[in-house]
Amino acid sequence: MATSSETHVVDIESMAHGGTGVGTLETGRSVFVPRTIPGERVEIEITEEHTNYARGRPIEWIETSEDRIEPDCPYFEQCGGCQFWHMPRERELELKVETAVDNLEHIGNLELPEPEVVEAPDDRRYRSRIEMHRRRTPEIDRTEWSTGFFEAESHDLVPIDDCLVATEPLNEARADLETALEDVGDADILFETADDSSVVVTIVPDQWTGDPPPSLREFAADLETVESVRGVRVIGDDREWVIGDDSVDGSQVIADSPVETIRFPAGLFRQANPAINRQLTDHVREAVEQQGGDHVLELFCGAGNLSFALRDTVDQLVGFEQTSAAVEMASTLASFVQLEGFRFVEADLSDGYRDWLVGDDLGFDTVVLDPPRSGASFVCEELVDADASTIVYVSCEPPALARDLETLAEGGWTVRELTFFDMFPRTYHLEALTILTR
Ligand SMILES: C[S@@+](CC[C@H](N)C(=O)[O-])C[C@H]1O[C@@H](n2cnc3c(N)ncnc32)[C@H](O)[C@@H]1O
Repeated sequence: MATSSETHVVDIESMAHGGTGVGTLETGRSVFVPRTIPGERVEIEITEEHTNYARGRPIEWIETSEDRIEPDCPYFEQCGGCQFWHMPRERELELKVETAVDNLEHIGNLELPEPEVVEAPDDRRYRSRIEMHRRRTPEIDRTEWSTGFFEAESHDLVPIDDCLVATEPLNEARADLETALEDVGDADILFETADDSSVVVTIVPDQWTGDPPPSLREFAADLETVESVRGVRVIGDDREWVIGDDSVDGSQVIADSPVETIRFPAGLFRQANPAINRQLTDHVREAVEQQGGDHVLELFCGAGNLSFALRDTVDQLVGFEQTSAAVEMASTLASFVQLEGFRFVEADLSDGYRDWLVGDDLGFDTVVLDPPRSGASFVCEELVDADASTIVYVSCEPPALARDLETLAEGGWTVRELTFFDMFPRTYHLEALTILTR
């Protein structure tokens, strides 16, 4: 990687996955420029040079798009968390959907049905979970640590007082915890809502040996007076320390939790936007209902967010998931409400699902899968020959989805329905639901 101080004038022609505008340099290479909009002409400085592409930073706008608006977020220029505060939400969503469809058509070589788009009710205060970082900020102070997000493509910290996409309780908890973090040093910190007003915090310091940091011990003594924080869990290489109650309500993790009051361990995967998650689980249920299947194989099931939405729809469901705490919670919840046909199994699906099937699991008619960002390549190679009649594929990463759908399409599956969910407004992320049949 090399950088250059030379400037270039580029026309922004399209939007890339990742939320950057794309232009072409004089040499013919593509250049990715953040905070730009297709149709703009910008003077840029190159920040990264690669053989086939470059990255640039906008210095001056020569022609601006009529879509451009003043960002409401004061951190937008530096913070790597969001990519879309500089245009209205409608335009943002239009561009994200266009980019995702383009990925599916060109990476996946797919013919697609007209997509449905589910808009988010709000673009701010929607996230019920954020991961922040604690680092020194050399340009501000070399000796003091701050809490915030990283700049894009970097580990330089942008201190954040109020994140506009995070719920109020998460921002309050961050502020209330600031003094307690003084002796923690470099750390990654997960803030997640425990119920509608309190938060559980998971701190993973880079280095922690000996006793817990003094500032955290002082905080522990006063925890009862801090309404915003239900509990704190500190995780080291060989030790763990819990302050207060570090469990979260089941309804925060599972849209359709059959038991409201059940407590889940902090740190499990959960969808970050509860309002859109509810829409997603409703759509998955409708898709399974429409296909009329009764035996579901669910892959990457987490703690059962999609599974429990199907509890009145199907008789048999086996869910595979690698995180043992999630499997344990899903199993506990199923036995609590006597869902005898629902079974959850700890299984690593990196090499596929087939070796994990036993006995009754072999006969399923519907497969629901919701893999991590990397996708599910081995799983999809196996699904090509599955006896199932329907696949319901939920994805948070359109390029990975495109590769997996290509494998399925080559094996005779056809995408019948495609729905995009605006799960992460103001960021480049987009959730997709596809329904495939043969
Ligand atoms: C996008 S989440 C979906 C979880 C669930 N459907 C939900 O809505 O909460 C992906 C899940 O895949 C799990 N996972 C990641 N890699 C895995 C693997 N190799 N084998 C099995 N599960 C895996 C993660 O632990 C996570 O729970």
